[in-house]
Amino acid sequence: MCGIVGYVGQRQAVEVVLDGLRRLEYRGYDSAGVALVAGGALGLAKKAGKLANLESALGDAVLPESTCGIGHTRWATHGVPSDRNAHPHPSADGRIALIHNGIIENFGQLRGELEADGVQFASETDTEVAAQLLGREYALDGDLTEAMTRACARLEGAFTLLAVAADDPDTVVGARRNSPLVVGVGEGEYFLASDVAAFIAYTTDAIELGQDQIVTIGRGGIAIRDFGGDPSEGRPYKVDWDITAAEKGGYDTFMRKEINEQPTAVADTLRGRIDESGQIVLDEVRMSDQDFRDIDKVFIIACGTSYHAGLVTKYAIEHWTRIPCEVELSSEFRYRDPVLDRSTLVISISQSGETMDTLMAVRHAKDQKARVLSISNTVGSTIPRESDAVLYTRAGIEVAVASTKAFLTQLAACYLVGLHLAQTRGIMYADEVKAVLDELVATPDKIATLLKDMEPVRELARESAAFGRVLFIGRHVGYPVALEGALKLKELAYIHAEGFAAGELKHGPISLIDDGTPVIAIVPSPRGRSLLHDKIVSNIQEVKARGAKVIAVCEDGDDITGVHADHVIATPASPTLLAPLLTAVPLQEFAAELATALGKDIDQPRNLAKSVTVE
Ligand code: AGP
Repeated sequence: MCGIVGYVGQRQAVEVVLDGLRRLEYRGYDSAGVALVAGGALGLAKKAGKLANLESALGDAVLPESTCGIGHTRWATHGVPSDRNAHPHPSADGRIALIHNGIIENFGQLRGELEADGVQFASETDTEVAAQLLGREYALDGDLTEAMTRACARLEGAFTLLAVAADDPDTVVGARRNSPLVVGVGEGEYFLASDVAAFIAYTTDAIELGQDQIVTIGRGGIAIRDFGGDPSEGRPYKVDWDITAAEKGGYDTFMRKEINEQPTAVADTLRGRIDESGQIVLDEVRMSDQDFRDIDKVFIIACGTSYHAGLVTKYAIEHWTRIPCEVELSSEFRYRDPVLDRSTLVISISQSGETMDTLMAVRHAKDQKARVLSISNTVGSTIPRESDAVLYTRAGIEVAVASTKAFLTQLAACYLVGLHLAQTRGIMYADEVKAVLDELVATPDKIATLLKDMEPVRELARESAAFGRVLFIGRHVGYPVALEGALKLKELAYIHAEGFAAGELKHGPISLIDDGTPVIAIVPSPRGRSLLHDKIVSNIQEVKARGAKVIAVCEDGDDITGVHADHVIATPASPTLLAPLLTAVPLQEFAAELATALGKDIDQPRNLAKSVTVE
């Protein structure tokens, strides 16, 4: 949450900082601001609303000669989105300006202390406490790095901070605890940002910072120290994607682009992880076969869409490995005192690798001595770094707030882990594993086929927009897909959408159905006349009998469902456990189109941010 950028080099800072903010706006977009330094002056501008508002209000703050500055795009925690609560926050004497991502938990106590010292606060934010504290420390010796080190010693919570000082046009100082911060290293220029997307147009050389580190970028280079003031190091790496990945590439929105990238994203996630004999090769995860054999219980922890990927995975892991598997929302996990030990495998799923709820759950699992395997889309992010093992999805950068290609690649990675567990433990024969893998490898082409004919789905979405409410039902792996379809619609269209286990309807929710209520049913394959299929066909009849308009997402050629549903969205045939890779796709398109019909911004829905770095 919140995007932050810092720059020192030869270019005009305002351009670089605004460019970076444009690419980070997905991290928060309720207000934005910049602080630029040149000739002993600090140019500061901040504005509520999207970045465009700031750009038209820059005025004198621009300091065209400035080559050093910071910028922020906010997702509000403390204090409403407004001009005065927007970052950067200046110190009382106006000599420094500071931006922040995270929450300073002891801000109340520090604010009281500073007010008692006569400091007058100009905002309701927790961030201003850090700015005032830093200003007070800076006044002591005029050394921004030393001042930041002393200020951080007083702060509790999660924070990435960046600061500049009016009389030091050569330096940006950053600090990192529990929130992301990466360094970009160019030719005689340096960048600090929450995400490499901010500087990828200028350099692909990056340095990953560790926990509790302070970094100073200046014209002479970079210096890293720990919170104790001792010299420290980051991990240099090369960013392996370029700027085109962070652009819309001819689509009207990032979400549409990302939906259409799914065949490639899934194929990339599988690539190189299956050998010629059809065995899974996951050497990269840093867990030995023996480690996998020692496991007697699996917990999956995740939030939102990633949690839905976890729910699907439970069915696969239990079916393929016979190991008990529980799935838990990260935010609930550690408060429940789960029973974990050395033989428990905790799988954390997080696209961003930064979600604070999941990070805290991972730390709790590690404290209990469980082994933690992370599935993440962000190389070098905090959760994989703190885990025992990691399997990266290869979705490429996902910019739209609503997760699409990340979800499908998480499923693909989870299937690999499930099959690998079954393979190493000898629960499935090699030919059985290979048969599933063959199906998995065939899926990207099926997704591509499905995507070719989305217009009927869009039409149904436009027709459903007027109703203002949509229910989703499913059984087995179709149930998490129903939850995911409802989440997409809620977050994008701001209408009531809910997913139910189809069998639960009669225990209460069926009373929600009245004339014309759109109900989307996720129907499993009819092949072999499965019990599951028959049951959901009965559920379709139950809701139809009460006036629902049923849209069935079912396998191509499922004539039985065709007879009962009002509309059918056909998906290519697939084994039951792998079907979510296909059935989720039309629901993404449905939500995007319905929200568009209602005039919503589908890339940046209200109140949300892409990376949720607060608890
Ligand atoms: C869904 O579309 C969301 N953007 C959201 O639920 C997201 O999946 C959740 O916040 C978890 O994020 P993560 O995968 O980065 O941890």
